[in-house]
Amino acid sequence: MNSSINNVVIVGATSAIAIDTARLFAKRGASIVLCGRNTDKLNTIALDIRAYGATTVNTLLFDAGKPEEAHTLLQQAEQSLGRIDAVLVAHGSLPDQSVMQDNPTAIISEFTINALSVMTISEVFASYFEKKGQGCLAVISSVAGDRGRQSNYNYGSAKGAVSIYLQGLRNRLAKKNINVVTIKPGFVDTPMTAHLPKNALFASSASVGKDIHSAMMNGKDVVYTPFFWRFIMLIIKSIPEFIFKKLSL
Ligand SMILES: NC(=O)c1ccc[n+]([C@@H]2O[C@H](COP(=O)([O-])OP(=O)(O)OC[C@H]3O[C@@H](n4cnc5c(N)ncnc54)[C@H](OP(=O)(O)O)[C@@H]3O)[C@@H](O)[C@H]2O)c1
Repeated sequence: MNSSINNVVIVGATSAIAIDTARLFAKRGASIVLCGRNTDKLNTIALDIRAYGATTVNTLLFDAGKPEEAHTLLQQAEQSLGRIDAVLVAHGSLPDQSVMQDNPTAIISEFTINALSVMTISEVFASYFEKKGQGCLAVISSVAGDRGRQSNYNYGSAKGAVSIYLQGLRNRLAKKNINVVTIKPGFVDTPMTAHLPKNALFASSASVGKDIHSAMMNGKDVVYTPFFWRFIMLIIKSIPEFIFKKLSL
């Protein structure tokens, strides 16, 4: 159990999954910096997280469409917390695949939010942790990144890039007392999936938040949440391409 996570930065803090994760850190009395692009939403969530018992809660503005501002975010977060023990990168956007097709502007913009900004933030926080000789970097990727499908391959390829990126980062930092956690949720009932018909595979953000908190506290590497997605994806990944390309997934 990693008892040294007391000061936590959450990027994409207005996400339903991030809020449920932040509440669990708050219950342990952590100091938390909530980062996002919407001041009003951040302030409302800060009140909620304080009520859960956080020692201090501050907010910072960060737009994932401007990944080049990642260094500024790190500096502001360090100023706010003094020392950063862990960061959770949670923001993401699930575009309509049909809108993405033949639309270079949308492809670039979505890839920036779902992949480039995530990598940029991870890189600057990883270097910070490397200098400090410890830290935990957790990032929400997705099972969608495990295999490309016709229904969401722009989103899926960004998540796949993030998962591979984190694999390399973990390989670089494992010897340096830095824990890199890749979180791969399946379907989660949040505003991101509000438009989708629900089925038995949908998990609550509270249960996914619990898995994320536990993975960060216990120094896990790759976490499927709920756990059974590891087996579902094992089957999906093992379907030969000549069969897979005929399916409409
Ligand atoms: N829900 C699922 O089924 C599912 C499955 C697998 C993985 N995930 C991943 O889980 C993470 C959390 O998603 P969620 O389900 O909790 O959805 P959510 O509640 O809709 O949260 C999405 C978050 O991304 C933020 N965001 C989007 N564009 C942004 C930008 N340009 N700059 C800064 N923030 C931006 C949103 O900020 P605003 O509040 O300002 O809009 C919000 O905080 C995402 O990475 C998502 O890809 C979700």
